[in-house]
Amino acid sequence: MSRFDCVESAPAIEIFALSKAYKEDTNPQKVDLGIGAYRTNEAKPWVLPVVRKAEHEIANDDSLNHEYLSQLGDDLFAQLATKMLLGDNNKAIEDKRAFGVQCLSGTGALRVGADFLRRNAGFKTVYVSDPSWPNHKLLFNHAGFESVRTYRYWDAANRQLDFDGLIEDLRNAPEDSVIVLHACAHNPTGIDPTVDQWKAIADVIEEKKLFPFFDCAYQGFASGDLDKDANSVRYFVDRGFEILCAQSFAKNFGLYNERIGNLTVVLKNTTPIVNSKAQITLLIRGNYSNPPVHGSRIVAKVLNDPQLYQEWRECIKSMAGRIQDMRNQLRQNIEKLGTSGKWSHITDQIGMFSYTGLNKQQIQHLVDNYHIYLPKDGRISLSGINTQNVEYVAKAINDAVNQFP
Ligand code: LMR
Repeated sequence: MSRFDCVESAPAIEIFALSKAYKEDTNPQKVDLGIGAYRTNEAKPWVLPVVRKAEHEIANDDSLNHEYLSQLGDDLFAQLATKMLLGDNNKAIEDKRAFGVQCLSGTGALRVGADFLRRNAGFKTVYVSDPSWPNHKLLFNHAGFESVRTYRYWDAANRQLDFDGLIEDLRNAPEDSVIVLHACAHNPTGIDPTVDQWKAIADVIEEKKLFPFFDCAYQGFASGDLDKDANSVRYFVDRGFEILCAQSFAKNFGLYNERIGNLTVVLKNTTPIVNSKAQITLLIRGNYSNPPVHGSRIVAKVLNDPQLYQEWRECIKSMAGRIQDMRNQLRQNIEKLGTSGKWSHITDQIGMFSYTGLNKQQIQHLVDNYHIYLPKDGRISLSGINTQNVEYVAKAINDAVNQFP
């Protein structure tokens, strides 16, 4: 008998199980449309040249050491990350009502923020979009939220945003509910609200006294422009909302396994800042004590050097551009085959993903017969598509739609 015989089994994390299955598949035609990680046109991971450059400089800098960071991380990094999100000359930064906390990528920032809201600010209920990145529900549950609910987002019949449903659900949310919003490039649907829709969302959040918690994992990936992709967050901050925002540098810097992120906190005034920082310090101390330094050094170096910053913006543009190109090519190829249905949503959606609307049987058909890996909700990562496999993927989709109309 083991003391741990009582431990129950748990479901696999779908997206990581898919990656493993893809890696183990020996079929030369296999295609990975699963995990949201950028791939080159040769289906290879990409270390951004500007990141390599920064790493070389860091490796050759004898003044650097491996001493502990504080619980809140590297302050220069956190300030630069906060400025990148909120923009130059942002009033909240000038008023010193905004601060950043270095966290373990977007997930870590979401979790620190969730813990802070639950343990220190009394929030109990959270709403995430339906559908959303699956980890949202898990992490708010684990942070002890009493109720993790959903607001409508995807209109399956028309393959577009269910805006009326979204507004109605926010209207009916109890006061003081946390509302998780995707800053841009919504995962998994690739559909973002328009400027006017964001305004209406902000109106309801204000009127119903809800709390906006942004997840900004794809700044730069939606439009190729860092400023444009932060507009939703900046709009809320300019209107005077208090917000949290979890920023990830996994995608836009390609620093997936360095776990580098930032939790931006914007308050109405400076009064609660000292206590808030003290409580967040304890949350982090009691969890992982303090963050690692490699990722924050790279990001801070690039954000703090005008030339490297410019090079990085070019890298983002090229990643976003390739993805956009693949959207166009995939749609064209599917339409050229006369595949039944409407495929304009592939190019209407933005960011890393397309929510294809393929059904379960069609998806299984792609996996079983074409070695094309994608999650069961039909989300595809456009970064897995390239000029060599786009026709193959389109033909496979055409076949799946014909077999299982
Ligand atoms: C994804 O959505 O595929 C990525 O954000 C990876 C992850 O951790 O789920």
